[in-house]
Amino acid sequence: MEKLIGLKKVKTAVFISGTGSNLENLIKFSKIKKSPISIDLILSNTNEAKGLKYSNQYIIKKKIFDFKDIKSTEKNIQILIKKDNIKLICLAGFMKILSANFIKKFNGKIINIHPSLLPKYKGLNTHKRAINNKDKFAGCTVHYVTAKLDSGKIIMQKKIKISAKDNSTSLAKKVRNLEHKLYSAAIMKIFS
Ligand code: GRF
Repeated sequence: MEKLIGLKKVKTAVFISGTGSNLENLIKFSKIKKSPISIDLILSNTNEAKGLKYSNQYIIKKKIFDFKDIKSTEKNIQILIKKDNIKLICLAGFMKILSANFIKKFNGKIINIHPSLLPKYKGLNTHKRAINNKDKFAGCTVHYVTAKLDSGKIIMQKKIKISAKDNSTSLAKKVRNLEHKLYSAAIMKIFS
């Protein structure tokens, strides 16, 4: 990732489909002086994403694309991103798979947070799988996005112990709290 020039923050879009707790944490992080990014766009594939409320709360532009026609949707997203001078895309619970072509256009500029210790448990239901496998640790990973799902270069990981009392709900909660610390730390790392 290119170095920060002067004091200008890197314009960033966050793509969401759900609650947006990672989005809110990234917004809070972006407001800290030492943060290398500003959040300038919230993008979702559904107007039912709860996290869209942060657009009003923090006065950030939001856009919803239905992704019915992926090709034209991605073309429109590219136009928007270019117009708004967005240089970093953070996926945060975004449930659509971006095309290889789109990813190539923004090569090295799209990052994702995933609720497992990748390369373990790519895809969904990560906590259930970790518990069923009697893993001792769970965690989360921030990685670059490539055309292969959850397989790009790892930027940072954090792990926690799975306790005997944990079920997938309690573990999801613990990991989510960890994610909130990890995403901003990983962004600091890529700009350092
Ligand atoms: C997080 O667990 C993230 O790792 C996964 O989707 C979830 C999104 O949570 N990719 P939130 O919408 O940020 O609360």
